[in-house]
Amino acid sequence: MTEVMETRLTPDPTAGDAATWWRQAAVYQIYPRAFADANGDGLGDLPGITARVPYLRSLGVDAVWLSPFYPSALADGGYDVDDYRDVDPRLGTLEDFDALVAALHDAGIKLIVDLVPNHTSDRHVWFQEALAAPKGSPARDRYIFRDGKGPDGAEPPADWPSTFGGPAWEPVGDGQWYMHHFAVQQPDLNWKNPEVRADFLRTLRFWSDRGVDGFRVDVAHGLAKDLGDELPSQAELDALPWDGNHPLWDRDEVHEIYAEWRGVFNSYDPPRTAVAEAWVAADRRARYASSAGLGQAFNFDLLEADFDAAQFREIITFNLELAAASGSSTTWVFSNHDVVRHATRYGLPPRRTGTDGEKPREKQGKRWLLSGGTEPELQRELGLRRARAATLLELALPGSSYLYQGEELGLHEVPDLPDEARQDPTFFRSPGVDVGRDGCRVPLPWTREGASFGFGPGSGPADLPQPDWFGELAVEVQEDDAASTLTLYRRALGLRRELQTEEELTWVETGHADVLAFRRPNGWLSVTNFGDAAVDLPDGEVLLASAPLENGRLPGATTAWLRA
Ligand code: NOJ
Repeated sequence: MTEVMETRLTPDPTAGDAATWWRQAAVYQIYPRAFADANGDGLGDLPGITARVPYLRSLGVDAVWLSPFYPSALADGGYDVDDYRDVDPRLGTLEDFDALVAALHDAGIKLIVDLVPNHTSDRHVWFQEALAAPKGSPARDRYIFRDGKGPDGAEPPADWPSTFGGPAWEPVGDGQWYMHHFAVQQPDLNWKNPEVRADFLRTLRFWSDRGVDGFRVDVAHGLAKDLGDELPSQAELDALPWDGNHPLWDRDEVHEIYAEWRGVFNSYDPPRTAVAEAWVAADRRARYASSAGLGQAFNFDLLEADFDAAQFREIITFNLELAAASGSSTTWVFSNHDVVRHATRYGLPPRRTGTDGEKPREKQGKRWLLSGGTEPELQRELGLRRARAATLLELALPGSSYLYQGEELGLHEVPDLPDEARQDPTFFRSPGVDVGRDGCRVPLPWTREGASFGFGPGSGPADLPQPDWFGELAVEVQEDDAASTLTLYRRALGLRRELQTEEELTWVETGHADVLAFRRPNGWLSVTNFGDAAVDLPDGEVLLASAPLENGRLPGATTAWLRA
C-alpha cells in the first residue's frame, strides 16, 4: 500500500482540555423515554438513565446527548416542549436531573441537552396566551400568525405543506392561522420578537447553571424567517435558492442569534458547547460550526450514503476539508432517532440513485417500512456486519462520532409495530404514505427475559411494544460474548481513547477500489473492505476487527484497526 493525499486539519486540542473536549468526542444519544424505565410505568425516565451510568461508563462514551426530557404531550416524541426549564413529571424532577448530571460527571461523562428553539408545543403558556389574545396582540407576536385568505379568512394564508404531512397552517377560529413547520401541536416561534430571544438566553443559562456541558440545537437552520404579509406560494418557495435569503430556511441572520448564544456559552468556565442540527448544503454548514456561533454542526453525509467505498472516501475527504476551513471538528453520524437504523439500511438494496449524481429522493428504508418489513427482503446478517464495519471506520476518523442508543447492541429497525401502538406524528399525518420513526425508538432490551426485557422493573410491557427478537440482543446476553456487537463497541471505544491523536488523516492506497485505508498521525491505521472478497492487510499489529479475519486476511464487509 502506498500513501497519498494528506488531509491536514487544525492542530489537535490538548487531550482532555476542558474547553475542547467535544472536538473528538464519542457522544451517545439517549432517547430518554426509550432507554430505561426506573418506576415501571412503561416509559423511560431520568432515574432509569442514572441507574445505567455504569453501563455508559463501561461502554466508554465521552458524552451523552439527551433528547428532550421536558414536559410534553409527546405529539412529536418530546420535540413539542411545554416548558423549557422543567422535567416531564413522567420522567422525573429537576432533582432527578441534578442527580443524573452528578452521576455522569462522576463517571467522567459530559452531558449535552437537546434544545428546541424553532417551535414550542401548543400547550406552552405562551401559545395558550396567544390563543386567548386578539389578533395583533403582543402574545400573538411571539408566534407566526397571519390572516386567512378568502371571505372570513377560511382559506390558509399559504399552501405550504408541513414536514409531517398535511398543511403547515392551522386556523384558530377568528380568521387567523398559525404556522407550524412540523406537527400541528408545534407552533413556530417568531425569532424577531425580543422576548423570544431573551427567554432562550434564560433557558441556556438555566441548564448551564445546572451543570450541562452543551446543547444540541434542533432545526438550527429554521429559526430566522422573513415573512411579510403577502406570503409566497410553495412553488415560489421551491424555486428560491437556499443562499442566505430564503424566507424560511438557513437565513444569514440566524447567525446573529447564535452569536448572542455564544456570549452565554463563553461566560461559563469551561465554555458550554453546542452542535447544530442544520440540514443545509455542506458549504453553508461552516457558519453554524463557527466558534463565533454554535461551534459544531452535524454532518449527515455518511448517514445518507450507501455502504460504498467511493462514496465514503469522497464524503470523508470533503468534510475534513470543510471542518479545517471552519476551524471546527467534523461530526459523523450513522443512526439517530429520526432515521432507519444503519444495520437495517445496509441490509437493504441501495436506493435508486438519481441521475447526474443527484441524491436519491426516496428516504432510505421507506419502502421496506411501508411493507411492514417484507419488501425488499432484509439481509439481517449482512446489514449488521456492514454496520459494524462502518462504525469501526467512523470511530477511527478525526472528529466527533455521534452514536444512537441501541446501535451498540446491533439492533435492527422494528418495522411491524401495530398501528395502534404508533406514536410518530408522521404516521398520523400521512396515512399510508409514511409510517414514521417509531421503529428506531423501541425501548432497549436489557435482559433476555421479562415483560419488557428489563427495560422496566415491573411485569408490564414497555410503552412501544418490543419484538420477541429483542431478547436475544439484550445487554445481558451480549455482555460476556466476545463476538457481540456490544463487546465490539466497548473495545473500540476503549481503544479509541488510547489511540486518539491529532485531527489528521492520510489516505493509504490499497490497490482495491473496494478497500479504504487511512492512517492517523500516530500510526493508527483503519482498513475497511466494502467488497466481498478477502484482501491482504498491510503490515502492522491488528488491534481490533469488526469480524474475524480469514487466515490473517480482511474479509468482505469488515474493518480492522492496526498499529503500523
Ligand atoms: C428534528 C428532530 O430530530 C426530530 O425528531 C423532530 O421531529 C424535528 N426536529 C422537529 O422538532
